[in-house]
Amino acid sequence: MSEPVVLGIESSCDETGVALVRGTTLLGDCLASSVDEHVRFGGVVPEVASRAHLEAIIPTIERACDDAGLTLADVDAVAVTAGPGLAGALMVGVSAAKAVAWALDKPLYGVNHLCAHVCADVLDHGPLPEPTMALLVSGGHTDLLIVRDIASDVTALGRTIDDAAGEAYDKVARVLGVPYPGGPHLDRLAQQGDPTAIRFPRGLTSARDMEKHRFDFSFSGLKTAVVRWVQERERDGLDVPLADVAASFSAAVADVLTRKAIDACEHHGIKDLQIGGGVTANTQLRTMAEERCAAAGISLRVPRIRLCTDNGAMVAALGAQVVARGLAPSSLDLGTDSSLPVSTVSV
Ligand SMILES: Nc1ncnc2c1ncn2[C@@H]1O[C@H](COP(=O)(O)OP(=O)(O)OP(=O)(O)O)[C@@H](O)[C@H]1O
Ligand SMILES: [Mg+2]
Repeated sequence: MSEPVVLGIESSCDETGVALVRGTTLLGDCLASSVDEHVRFGGVVPEVASRAHLEAIIPTIERACDDAGLTLADVDAVAVTAGPGLAGALMVGVSAAKAVAWALDKPLYGVNHLCAHVCADVLDHGPLPEPTMALLVSGGHTDLLIVRDIASDVTALGRTIDDAAGEAYDKVARVLGVPYPGGPHLDRLAQQGDPTAIRFPRGLTSARDMEKHRFDFSFSGLKTAVVRWVQERERDGLDVPLADVAASFSAAVADVLTRKAIDACEHHGIKDLQIGGGVTANTQLRTMAEERCAAAGISLRVPRIRLCTDNGAMVAALGAQVVARGLAPSSLDLGTDSSLPVSTVSV
């Protein structure tokens, strides 16, 4: 008998994502984003996001099924992001998933959004080696994780002590007058700049910091350094070389992320590094990770860019892993948890 078809639903932030996965094969997916509605506010407005999910959820489910050439009758299990994320936004996806599971009389699996980011790559490169070191870099999180089993055993090794990497991108972009979301815009700008033009600080890399925070991150000092540098130029009546600032800022982020991730692999004797989350789309991070992993003899896995930012495919992929391990489904009483810890893979 072939592996079950899992329908995955993602609605934790501003993307309504739905996909169908069988094993590690993506059968079809569809994404509706409310990002354009948030641009004028410079960040995601939770109520606007929830309303947009409500409007998008049913058409997105229909389109994902069409894309797969299947109907809901072909679905064997339903997976949904139960947290972390915006409470109202999560509720829309969870309610829809419950309705579909109940109507089809199929099992429901509430899964962790962050573990889903890490799992996305199974759709591109097959099952994760075990153990794998995972670097999760997204809008709200920057974590180093030891993944012994993506469906049941994920341990946090380190995390940001202040801003997430994506958050730093979005905040720096705002200061530079670059539209929200800052990451992709700064990435494009950085391609025309010199990453060595300005030496911005590398958070938590001094010998003293490394004693206590070897595998933790900090991007708040970097963000402040960029803001100060720009303000001083403006005060002195000088032009702000946007491309050089973007490239030098991105270089500082990518340098710390890759340095600490490789150090974590070496310290724990782990030969495989998986990078996931929205910031993984970043050009400098991808290039630096490739070069440094190759030099350190670490095998690197990075998914295609579409699978880095929020999407339904990663949720369906994680659901398929949970189903494959025979883990218990969630109850139809499943709630949402805005701050679900990364170690809780499914609920
Ligand atoms: N090319 C890029 N370079 C740098 N950052 C990027 C790029 N593309 C997207 N980002 C950043 O990725 C973040 C969005 O990623 P993602 O969708 O995974 O985050 P999120 O879902 O909002 O947060 P979380 O997953 O922590 O709940 C934003 O901060 C965005 O600026
Ligand atoms: Mg995300």
